This record gives sequence, structure tokens and C-alpha cells, in this order.
Amino acid sequence: MSSPVTTIAEIGKHEGQTVTIRGWLYNLRESGKLLFPIFRDGSGLIQGIVPKSAVPPEVFDAIKGLTQESSVIVEGKVRADKRAPSGYELDVSNVEVLQRVSEEDPYPISLKEHGVDFLMEHRHLWVRTPRQASILRVRAEIIKAARDFFDENGFTLTDPPIITPAACEGTTTLFPVDYFEEQAYLTQSGQLYIEATALALGKVYSFGPTFRAEKSKTRRHLTEFWMVEPEVAYAKLDDLMVLAEDFISFIVKRCLEKRRADLQTIGRDVSKLEKISAPFPRITYDDAVKMLQEAHAKGALENKFEYGGDFGSPDETYLSAQFDKPVIVNRYPAVVKAFYMEPDPERPDLALCMDVLAPEGYGEIIGGSQRMASYELLVKRIREHNLPEEAFKWYLDLRKYGSVPHGGFGMGIERAVAWICGLEHVRETIPFPRMLHRLYP
Ligand code: 4AD
Ligand code: MG
Repeated sequence: MSSPVTTIAEIGKHEGQTVTIRGWLYNLRESGKLLFPIFRDGSGLIQGIVPKSAVPPEVFDAIKGLTQESSVIVEGKVRADKRAPSGYELDVSNVEVLQRVSEEDPYPISLKEHGVDFLMEHRHLWVRTPRQASILRVRAEIIKAARDFFDENGFTLTDPPIITPAACEGTTTLFPVDYFEEQAYLTQSGQLYIEATALALGKVYSFGPTFRAEKSKTRRHLTEFWMVEPEVAYAKLDDLMVLAEDFISFIVKRCLEKRRADLQTIGRDVSKLEKISAPFPRITYDDAVKMLQEAHAKGALENKFEYGGDFGSPDETYLSAQFDKPVIVNRYPAVVKAFYMEPDPERPDLALCMDVLAPEGYGEIIGGSQRMASYELLVKRIREHNLPEEAFKWYLDLRKYGSVPHGGFGMGIERAVAWICGLEHVRETIPFPRMLHRLYP
């Protein structure tokens, strides 16, 4: 085939011309002497037209009865068609079948509905379906937008280690690693290390995989997920709230600009995303508790929330459904939060921390805080939390040599993808999810 190779996404640039597409057969409709194959190439779908009278017999025969997901190289003339979802159709003139999927062992994911377990077991093939491909494109856009936001705002990317000697977010959720007979763990967050690089470079961020050996089986939890974390020297809680709302608004706007078609394929109501702009509503933990208790009294929430605890999934779902923008809940009781958080000088029982809850019931997408600046207090906390002091020696050094107020936050990419795409479960937000009962494929 001698015509120029293009992609389905770019095919509009070739209207009226003959082009080559390299992809797979997505579906085939046959009506007598007319074949309507739909091809996909990873960038989109396009319908081809193959009239028996207009093509050489071997081309007609190659496509007739062709099996789903057979790999094909197709040549044809691009024709604008208003009724086509992509706006174009292909008048097929030639085809080469690279591999014909056997009728005896057909492609397992047909166009009918399949159960989630079946699809998860075939995740390596499920990613081929247009909706899944769109989700992965939105995920890539979110990651790119997150990186652009920080790169354009004076932050330096600094990569923390993945194999670490100690816990960051709590000792109960660590994945152990045998590090040459020494006990090590997979990181839960790059935070402690980027506190060090923030004190070296001022404004930094990290982006990488993080691991939680959580036994939670919710629609929000993965055991392996990707987190983007900014950390800023001299930043206080108020600065972090502004940074978080600017950051989220930037990402949503970017997705609307660049991934509107994908969001439509996914079935997202984009009008909800169009409302997302800074500033976001802010409520304290105390306000949130009042809202939860009132909801319980009205019968809108099953469990009565007791002051002093951390919010469970149903609580977050309720709170986040009350706002049409993300809501920033700040100043939680220090006892429910991590050891490194700076206490509120006016209420030392509270931590200068924030969680950003996405709207529509999505719950927490960001967690962050101002970090403890005092050496003495931090030592005390490390002991209270029964953490190995020796492993935190370097971290304590940051409070010995030019300690300053500083802080940052982490956003889980999968939580952000689930919300922006409007998905029910985080399992669809990452190519190969790792969950409590999922290690294959
Ligand atoms: O709230 P977390 O645990 O905060 C930290 O790890 C801080 N050290 C971050 C920092 O301040 N630099 O986690 C941050 C975010 C959560 O808001 C959530 O979006 C995501 O990481 N996350 C998870 N996502 C998927 N599955 C899980 N098991 C997650 N745990 C946290
Ligand atoms: Mg959190």
C-alpha cells in the first residue's frame, strides 16, 4: 500500500485523499453485497464502506466474515460524512489482514455487556474498548496538566526513593521489601524526602507510584497508585489551600480543552466540570462534623458521626455531595492524622491540615498539611507514634538546620481520574489496577 499512513484522529486532514490506516477490526456489519467494517487504530474509530461492485474480489473476501480484533492495514479514500461519529468514512480500496483472529478462539470481549470480574480478568484486552481508551487518554492528560502546572509555576521535579527504610503515612499499611537482608518498605508517599528537597530548592514536586497495603475494599482504594506531591518552603496552610484550588482548576480546565471528545465517549456530564474554578468552599473539620450530625438527624446519613474521628467513605460521600465544587476541609483533630503535621497554634489539638473532597460524592482527592517545624515537638511525636527514631534522624535534621514553616499535599491521580471521568470505581482509572484481590493480569 503506497498511500500516506495516517491515524484515524488525524484523518480529517486528508479529506478526499487516499490514505493507509493501521489497526484492528472493531466490528463488522454485513448486508449482502455491502460490508461496513469499523476499524480502530488506538486514536479513534472509523467506519469503512466496501461495496462488492467497487473493490477487487480478494479485498471483499478478506473483509467478509473477518473476525473481531483481527489486525488489518487498510487503504481507502476519506469522505466527510456528517452522520459518522468521527465526521468521516473510508471508501475502502485495499486491505491486508496481518493476523486473522480464529473463529474457534474468538476475541473474548464482544460488544455485548460483560460482568466486571470478567472484564478485570481480561484487562489486557479490555483497554482496547473505546471507553477504556478514552479514560486512559484523560488520565494521561491529567498527569501532563499536573506536571505542566508545577513546571510553569517555578517548581522543580525531584524524585523521591521508592524503597524506603521507614513509614510515612502509618505503619499498618506498609509493603515490606527484603533489602539485602535488611527490612525495607515500598513508599507510601514521597513527602518526607521532598521536604528535604523543598528546603534545598524552595518549591518542588514529585510524581511517582506509591503503595498502601490496605485491606480496604472500597471503590476508592488501590494498593498501588500514583501520586503527585508539591512541597513548598515557607508555605502555610492558607497558601496550600490556594495552591490546591488553582492546581485542580487548572487540570479540569485542561481536560475540558483537550479531552472533551473523550469525556463525551465516557459519558461524562461536562457541565459539572465547567463549574470548577477557584476559589473553592472551605470548611473546618468542626463545620463538617456539624453537617454530618445534622444529616444523621434528618435521616440522610445512616451512622451518627462522633466528634474526633476521621471521616469514613460514607461521610466523605455525603459531604462532597453538598457542594458543586471541591470543598476544602481543614483542621482535623491531630490524633487522627499523621505524626508530621503542625499543630494549630490557636487549637493545639487540631492539625494545620486539609483534605480536598471532590464534588458529586467522590470524596478525598487531596490530602496535605503544614509540617511540624519544631525539632523538640517532632521528636516527641515520633516517640508517641512508636516510630523508629533512628530511621528519622535525617528527617529531624531538617528541623535542626534552618527549620522553616513549610508544607505540601498529595493528589492521587486515580482519584482525580475517577472524578473527572465520572467513574464509579478507581479500577478503571489505571491500565492495570492493583487491589486487595487483584494481581492479575
Ligand atoms: O492523604 P494521603 O494519605 O496523604 C499523604 O500521603 C501525604 N503524605 C501527602 C502529602 O502531604 N504530600 O494521600 C494523598 C492522596 C489522597 O488524597 C488520595 O487522593 C490518594 O493520595 N490516595 C489513594 N488513592 C488510591 N488508593 C489509595 N489507597 C489511596 N490512598 C491515598
Ligand atoms: Mg488522606
